[in-house]
Amino acid sequence: MADFVGAVDQGTTSTRFMIFDRSGAEVGRHQLEHEQLMPRAGWVEHNPLELIGNTHTVIRTALQRTGLGPADLAALGITNQRETTVVWDRRTGRPLHNAIVWQDTRTDRIAAALHRDGRAELVRERTGLPPSPYFSGGKLQWLLENVSGLRAAAERGDAVFGTVDSWLLWNLTGGIDGGVHVTDVTNASRTMLMDLETLDWDDELLEIFGVPRAMLPAIRASSDPAGYGVTRADGPLGGAVPLTGALGDQQAAMVGQVCFSPGEAKNTYGTGNFMLLNTGTKPVRSASGLLTTVCYRFGDEPPVYALEGAIAVTGAAVQWLRDQLGVITDAAQSEALAARVPDNGGVYFVPAFSGLFAPYWRSDARGAIVGLSRYDTGAHIARATLEAICYQSRDVIEAMERDSGVHLEVLRVDGGVTANALCMQLQADILGVPVSRPAVAETTALGAAYAAGLAVGFWSSTEELRANWREARRWLPHWSGEQRATGYAGWQKAVQRTLDWVD
Ligand code: G3P
Repeated sequence: MADFVGAVDQGTTSTRFMIFDRSGAEVGRHQLEHEQLMPRAGWVEHNPLELIGNTHTVIRTALQRTGLGPADLAALGITNQRETTVVWDRRTGRPLHNAIVWQDTRTDRIAAALHRDGRAELVRERTGLPPSPYFSGGKLQWLLENVSGLRAAAERGDAVFGTVDSWLLWNLTGGIDGGVHVTDVTNASRTMLMDLETLDWDDELLEIFGVPRAMLPAIRASSDPAGYGVTRADGPLGGAVPLTGALGDQQAAMVGQVCFSPGEAKNTYGTGNFMLLNTGTKPVRSASGLLTTVCYRFGDEPPVYALEGAIAVTGAAVQWLRDQLGVITDAAQSEALAARVPDNGGVYFVPAFSGLFAPYWRSDARGAIVGLSRYDTGAHIARATLEAICYQSRDVIEAMERDSGVHLEVLRVDGGVTANALCMQLQADILGVPVSRPAVAETTALGAAYAAGLAVGFWSSTEELRANWREARRWLPHWSGEQRATGYAGWQKAVQRTLDWVD
């Protein structure tokens, strides 16, 4: 049997391909960034052809570098930025519009109308999601209303929809002459079109968003022994490798962090932050502004659900310091700059660039830096940025503890920002619980590889995966209780300012 499993991680800012061995250790990777298209304030798009082009390049490059070929890969997993919406022509494989990215707020009015006319409750009950421009349903409605000829083509079955997992699977299995049109259940649970209990597209929801059923992919398990298809021999792998794992990136990180038991949770620090708590085989409804979502489904086992606290802007706030404010030249410098000062100097930064997600769900909120005095410097703003990442996580964790009654003993973290040791120390201080980072920080790609490998028997069980998990570093809280309480009160006041901003 082949000795490795591959995983594509198509994220918001970059695409990577990683290869893992049986111990879960990385043996190779390649990564490429793609362009963020922002045609208007609040709009964020990706070119679907660039996403697939980069996917091909990272696969080819990683294989070349490691000297591995298709015969060395037992299976291939896919993981992806969720909610981002792609429509393409089934006959030509050509995208019919740029992908509308999860951060895009152009569909604000669609979500607001559902809140006004009382249908928000039905949507929330059925999907576990509060109407928000974040999810795919409104984005697809916008495309159907604004792309000329799209609705008629969709009704004929010529135009199809998919989240990025579907787009990749279509292209990797078939490309222009037609690959498989499938999605996994975790990605489907973010469209706002799937019933969380039946795990099928829901006619009433399709009617609300005006979506023709003919354009939707088939919903499959996240780890599927039957496979979604095999890679094209003339594709980037150069041979047929079974595609057997697919999950949204945050759910994949749950699998990579081996959060297989109810009560186990992880927090991923990327463009945004996404904290998920495994709640077992029954969906738990949130009374505190969290999402109910499918965590994973392995084969024909019952689905496992999660409560999720999604935060739109965390790592992206550090990028904003770099790209828009120009106080740093690369993201890693934020640590050294913030370390120049012992505290935030009274400054709080609420990066509500796309409104506020969990637990507030206010798409009308806008960012604010408050508490400034003449004494404050760029270092204070950098520190306030790192603290904002941690305070937003605290907001979510408080909501999670209220909803689930589970008290967090330790926070498992992963993602790019966890390389910032000061940020992780602040996270432990602000929460008052230890923060633990695993040896493999790329838990998203690892989770997709695990899902794919489980399906083909490369790994025999989740217990075997658990044995692979190792802690690499732990941060203990140092702040006094009073310091923690005062700091959090300041944060909560700052958040109020952003909510008051738009009438
Ligand atoms: O829900 C959006 C999320 O899946 C994006 O994750 O890591 O690509 O920013 P990331």
